[in-house]
Amino acid sequence: MSKDQREEHKMAEDCFFFNKDTLIVKPQKKHPPLLRMIVIALVMISGVYICSVCLKQRGLGFAPNLMKIDVVEQPCPDPNISQDGNAPVVHYPQPTTYRRNECRCTPVRFFAILSMQRSGSGWFETLLNSHINVSSNGEIFSVKERRSNISSITATMDKVYNLDWLSSAAKNECTAAVGFKWMLNQGLMTNHEEIVSYFNRRGVSAIFLFRRNLLRRLVSILANEHDRNLKQLNGTHKAHVHSKDEADVLARYKPTIDAMKVIPTLNDNDKWVMDALEYFKSTRHIVLYYEDLVNNRTKLKDVLDFLKVPQLKLVSRHVKIHTKPLSEQVENWDAISNTLKGTKYESFLHSDYKK
Ligand SMILES: *[C@@H]1O[C@H](CO)[C@@H](O)[C@H](O)[C@H]1NC(C)=O
Ligand SMILES: *[C@@H]1O[C@H](CO)[C@@H](O)[C@H](O)[C@H]1NC(C)=O
Ligand SMILES: *[C@@H]1O[C@H](CO)[C@@H](O)[C@H](O)[C@H]1NC(C)=O
Ligand SMILES: *[C@@H]1O[C@H](CO)[C@@H](O)[C@H](O)[C@H]1NC(C)=O
Ligand SMILES: *[C@@H]1O[C@H](CO)[C@@H](O)[C@H](O)[C@H]1NC(C)=O
Repeated sequence: MSKDQREEHKMAEDCFFFNKDTLIVKPQKKHPPLLRMIVIALVMISGVYICSVCLKQRGLGFAPNLMKIDVVEQPCPDPNISQDGNAPVVHYPQPTTYRRNECRCTPVRFFAILSMQRSGSGWFETLLNSHINVSSNGEIFSVKERRSNISSITATMDKVYNLDWLSSAAKNECTAAVGFKWMLNQGLMTNHEEIVSYFNRRGVSAIFLFRRNLLRRLVSILANEHDRNLKQLNGTHKAHVHSKDEADVLARYKPTIDAMKVIPTLNDNDKWVMDALEYFKSTRHIVLYYEDLVNNRTKLKDVLDFLKVPQLKLVSRHVKIHTKPLSEQVENWDAISNTLKGTKYESFLHSDYKK
């Protein structure tokens, strides 16, 4: 609602209120009939006068709704006006919970970060949310009811993409890219056909975020499990930390990996990634690897280009937990390295961060 309209509505309310008040004034029985009539006449005259003034100021008189619709429904510029073949579909959501005001015609693009637990997606999402025009609403499908069937999933996504999902990531009205984080095992793979068609129908771009070194991911999963049970930081479990000291505490634990199960586990992991890429290949997407983002910050520029938002410096307070060579982070390193030697996973034993 524009300021003018708001004032108009307020004035209309005031007028109405005034009339009601004057009507309520009841002549007192004690007064003589003549005085009563004079009072009634005065009230009527002033009532008519006030109403005529009100109507004059409101212009259209009794059709305030017509005016409102007239303003709200003014079309935004054609969404495909600036699209090259590669640009995602843009939208002009009309949230039910608030008004986008002057950003009503700021186009919004939809995205979803598709990832797996312990793949750096928490860190990645804080980076995106440090951008003034990006709202990524977290792991919304970690709540089971929201993913219990495709209608729940669709309704949840509709709400997010209509900018009606209120989370700490919700930005001002000028959000230009809105999305959330979705783990492959949160109903995404089970309902992939319907979800792909939703993505394509509504123009949702997929950002795949995987980890190249799945052995490191395994270490991170086990260490996170361990902390979930032990709550090493003053009795609270932390999946992500914001200081080097906290990171050191969590990295002290060296998990023992089941040497018999390590290869089947990595195979499963691999298959999930392959299947996800295959299922979603028809969507507009980008594939990112955590290691690349860590080693090469210009990869983040690719992401902002992909989302078609302005290039800005992205920051995160997250501190990496496991920074040491893998050999120092696995209790039964010899067994694991013997198991993986000569397999396609051998490179996982050696690849470490450059920084
Ligand atoms: C938008 O796309 C439609 C259909 O492809 C086309 O007819 C129309 O001219 C486009 N509008 C603009 C402003 O490019
Ligand atoms: C980004 O947000 C700022 C601040 O709200 C706004 O002025 C600007 O128009 C937005 N940019 C885009 C591309 O939406
Ligand atoms: C889908 O799941 C929601 C939430 O669990 C439930 O309320 C709803 O009845 C289900 N709808 C269908 C069609 O099964
Ligand atoms: C635990 O709490 C104490 C006192 O509140 C604080 O000084 C210390 O830094 C905390 N330690 C960790 C690991 O969070
Ligand atoms: C860093 O990423 C950019 C953008 O993807 C790429 O062009 C460049 O080759 C990368 N640099 C290195 C050293 O890998």
